[in-house]
Amino acid sequence: MARVKTAVLISGRGSNMAALIAAAAAPGFPAEIALVIANKAGAGGLALAAEAGIRTAVVESRPFGKDRAAFEAVLQAELEAAGIELVCLAGFMRVLTPAFVERWQGRMLNIHPALLPAFPGLDTHERALDAGVKIHGCTVHLVVPEVDSGPILAQAAVPVLPNDTPDTLAARVLAQEHVIYPAALARLARDLASGGADPAPSDPARPEAGQPAAAQALVVPAP
Ligand code: GAR
Repeated sequence: MARVKTAVLISGRGSNMAALIAAAAAPGFPAEIALVIANKAGAGGLALAAEAGIRTAVVESRPFGKDRAAFEAVLQAELEAAGIELVCLAGFMRVLTPAFVERWQGRMLNIHPALLPAFPGLDTHERALDAGVKIHGCTVHLVVPEVDSGPILAQAAVPVLPNDTPDTLAARVLAQEHVIYPAALARLARDLASGGADPAPSDPARPEAGQPAAAQALVVPAP
């Protein structure tokens, strides 16, 4: 079966990107990481991708200022030039326009460091500790125009421990991000490669429509 050509979009260190690249190196993995794009020239993940022999590109978002559509036109051109079929946002800290998101409907994934719909947005680990939750985690979801929303493909839950700091909690969550993101990518790529219908965001009038058949849930027990 042809592997689904996938791009990973990053802004920083790229540990999730590295997990996706490592998983995709396994024989039989249904997606090929064909391109890594960073919106910051200094993104640490670029060097990791290049070391792994993956084509990289930088499309700086800063020079475009508030003109998100102009930035995305360049991004889209890079994706098309590489024949990309699926996009993984991995620590990509740039909000995308509805038009761009709709262009990639059912074919763009994001990883978020919280159990959505809890704690969308930034500083999720700090906010989880402040809220006193006892379970925290991460979510892989299809991207829809509303930020940190969209059909959930996988979640992993981890315990919040009494002496946790935002950093210790982030590390526990990140380890699970690296587990569920490759798994969710594999499932979606396999669906797409086998001609399965693109799982589109749900129609409010038909809540069952477009929902992925079976999302993955992983619960990590307390030590
Ligand atoms: C990850 O924890 C990811 O979930 C988060 O940024 C980190 C990127 O780390 N993403 C978001 O907060 C998106 N809103 P990485 O560059 O090492 O993968």
